[in-house]
Amino acid sequence: MASDRLAGRRAVVTGAASGIGAATAARLRADGAQVFTADVQGEVDFVADLTAPDANARLVDAAVNAMGGLDTLVPCAGISAFHPLEGHDDAYFLRVIEVNLVTVFRLIRDAVPHLKAAGNGRIVTIGSTTSSFGDEGLCAYSASKHAVLGLTKSVAAELGPFGVTVNCVQPGAIATPMTAPAFSDMPEFRTFWENKAALRRLGQPADIADVIAFLCSDDARFMSGHGVWVDGGAMVRH
Ligand SMILES: NC(=O)c1ccc[n+]([C@@H]2O[C@H](COP(=O)([O-])OP(=O)(O)OC[C@H]3O[C@@H](n4cnc5c(N)ncnc54)[C@H](O)[C@@H]3O)[C@@H](O)[C@H]2O)c1
Repeated sequence: MASDRLAGRRAVVTGAASGIGAATAARLRADGAQVFTADVQGEVDFVADLTAPDANARLVDAAVNAMGGLDTLVPCAGISAFHPLEGHDDAYFLRVIEVNLVTVFRLIRDAVPHLKAAGNGRIVTIGSTTSSFGDEGLCAYSASKHAVLGLTKSVAAELGPFGVTVNCVQPGAIATPMTAPAFSDMPEFRTFWENKAALRRLGQPADIADVIAFLCSDDARFMSGHGVWVDGGAMVRH
């Protein structure tokens, strides 16, 4: 339900043209935040491939100019990756790490002065249930998402004294353009995840966005450094 609990907040959301990022931008706005959106494609405020070395610094500057400051980061941009270990070439592995991890690091690093100045900053990173588990074919993706959780914990420790909270949402299987091809090509894969969830359904982008909005709010003011599974209860089941 919309509220004014994020009134006065000035947020950057990446990956905002699609899926979880788009739902997050909408939810933060519905709760009163100003939101500056970024993606490599689509109708957003800042269009760039965020793996370009200076892209995140330019994004931070553009967001601060547009909103007059910056206190909230939600880096949602990411790519899925599935490849068996044999034949898994370096370039593919490094691209997954670059998009899913390095862009998150750079955005946080480049925004630190603004988050410190705000005094009540919020960072919500997007991990995955594969931030805590591995699976066949997921060595690059799972490595990137484990690292996002590790990054989250260390940034939480470093920025806590400046009033910044940092948490990592770990979605389960969510119906977005990222997962649509796999769910459509392999209906059994979709059924597997529907049945694995204790709630017996796939997640929707809003299921994740609503938790992100909570973590950005004052209600979550004493919560930092945590991975938060939002998976419909999938990972508590064998
Ligand atoms: N969908 C799921 O089941 C699921 C589960 C766990 C975690 N996640 C994570 O959630 C996040 C969002 O995923 P989604 O499912 O909404 O996917 P999505 O494909 O719908 O959205 C991802 C967005 O990121 C953007 N993007 C990709 N590479 C980029 C780059 N180099 N520069 C700028 N933008 C870039 C894409 O253009 C796209 O709009 C990702 O980090 C993903 O790993 C998704």
